[in-house]
Amino acid sequence: MLTVEHLAKSYGSKQAVVDVSLTVARGEVVGLLGPNGAGKSTTVAMICGLVTPDAGRVLVDGEAIRSDDGPVKRRIGLVPQDISLFEDFGARDNLELFGALYGVRGALLKERVDAALELVGLVDRAKDKPSGYSGGMKRRLNIAAALVHDPDLLVLDEPTVGVDPQSRNAIFDNLEALAARGKAIVYTTHYMEEAERLADRIVIVDDGRLVASDTPAVLMRSLGNTGLVTMEVEGPVDVRTLLAEPGVTRAEQSGDVLTLAIADLGASLPHVLTWLASQGHAIRRIDSSRANLEDVFLTLTGRQLRD
Ligand SMILES: Nc1ncnc2c1ncn2[C@@H]1O[C@H](COP(=O)(O)OP(=O)(O)OP(=O)(O)O)[C@@H](O)[C@H]1O
Ligand SMILES: [Mg+2]
Repeated sequence: MLTVEHLAKSYGSKQAVVDVSLTVARGEVVGLLGPNGAGKSTTVAMICGLVTPDAGRVLVDGEAIRSDDGPVKRRIGLVPQDISLFEDFGARDNLELFGALYGVRGALLKERVDAALELVGLVDRAKDKPSGYSGGMKRRLNIAAALVHDPDLLVLDEPTVGVDPQSRNAIFDNLEALAARGKAIVYTTHYMEEAERLADRIVIVDDGRLVASDTPAVLMRSLGNTGLVTMEVEGPVDVRTLLAEPGVTRAEQSGDVLTLAIADLGASLPHVLTWLASQGHAIRRIDSSRANLEDVFLTLTGRQLRD
């Protein structure tokens, strides 16, 4: 449904996007994951024909996206990172307006608006204006606005920022249902848990460059047997020195809780425990779990996703 080939975009001397390629099939959710300033929104803007790339191209169902108003743009629904709603119109009026802009009319428009309100859980607040909404409710209406014209490709740019966990789960369920109905979805986020939960494939970008593109399972496998260890320890740990110990790829302390990512857990953990004891840190509790996409990002870029 979507083919993105070697996109590049610079603003002055800043290379916002250097060489990003990706594909999304019908029914597939692709997560576009990267830290602040990675080039996610610029990529999204090029996919939707809002920004003209310096190089590369975007095909929707085989047809090239252009920045003028071609019919192919109607096949895309964009949920922009910055909420864009008509603050002084009620939620239903907003959705009717968005639908009408795409040429949806009459009974079909009413049906689609009802479905979109239902989807984001705003049926009860349909008459109210977004100016009286909470931030999370505005986000949800912003998502609904992208759905009224029933696009084949849905592009969401960090759609859940400020949304409470319950609504977020409802949104995820709905996106999964939309994918199951054959929509192609690009989901932009800097939350690795979201990408892990939703995405069939994950494209990781950093500093405008594509650093990985694969299924979550394959990306996780690239970590080998790296494990996450959470400990309750006494006293402030010298995490910088600990990071220099063999096998320790991540070390953070927050209060009593020390979180470590350790490559080759079996071989390296005994050494780490000995080191902690030698530094006089009593350990009250140890939990271990598998490493996550945060660690994949760290391994690939040497930096944390949120730093
Ligand atoms: N219109 C613009 N003019 C100048 N620089 C820009 C413009 N848009 C983006 N940039 C720069 O391009 C880089 C990528 O920005 P972009 O908004 O695409 O990142 P992002 O991954 O969406 O980040 P965030 O997670 O903060 O939304 C940044 O360095 C940004 O400052
Ligand atoms: Mg952005």
